[in-house]
Amino acid sequence: MKIYLIGYMGSGKSTLGKRLAKALGISWIDLDTEIEARYKISIPDFFIKYGEAAFRDVEHKVLNDIVQIPDIVVSTGGGVPCFHNNMELMNQTGLTIYLQATPEVILTRIGPYAWKRPLFQKMDGADTLEKIKEHIKPRIIFYQQAHIIIDAANPNIDELKTLILKASGSITS
Ligand code: S3P
Repeated sequence: MKIYLIGYMGSGKSTLGKRLAKALGISWIDLDTEIEARYKISIPDFFIKYGEAAFRDVEHKVLNDIVQIPDIVVSTGGGVPCFHNNMELMNQTGLTIYLQATPEVILTRIGPYAWKRPLFQKMDGADTLEKIKEHIKPRIIFYQQAHIIIDAANPNIDELKTLILKASGSITS
C-alpha cells in the first residue's frame, strides 16, 4: 500500500505521515528530506542557488523514484501535486490524501517557521494572510483531485485507517 499525503505548507503532512506509517506498520518518507539528503543541500539553499524551476524538476525526479517503493507513506512538499504530472502519477500509483487547511490555520502554523520555507519568505508584511489565500487558490484544483480529503486540523488515525481501507478497495491501481 502506497499513500501520498498532500496539501499546502503547514498542513501537517510530515507529522501525520509519521503517525500513519506507524499505525499501518509500513515505512515513511518525507520527499523534501529525501531531496536534501540526495543533493546535500537544504531546500531554502536549493531555491537560492538553483531557483524554483530546477527544484520542481528534482522534486519530480525523486517522486518518480519513490513511486517504485511498494509499501510506504510519502509526505510530499506543498507544491508537488501542482507541477509536472505529479498529481496524476500519485493518483495512479497509490492513494492520495489531501490535508485540507484554511489559510488562517496555515498562517498560525507556518508564521513562526517562515525562514524554513523559501516561498513563504516572500510573503512578508501585514497582508500575509491575503498572500496565502492568493497563493493557495490555483493549487486547490490539484489538491482536490485526491482520493481522500480530510480536515488537517485534528486528524484521527483510526478514522483515517478506515477511510484508507475503504478507498483502497475501490482503487484499481
Ligand atoms: C513548497 C513547500 C515546501 C517545500 C518547498 C516548496 C511549496 O514543503 O517543498 O519549500 O511549493 O509549497 P512543505 O509543504 O513541507 O513545507
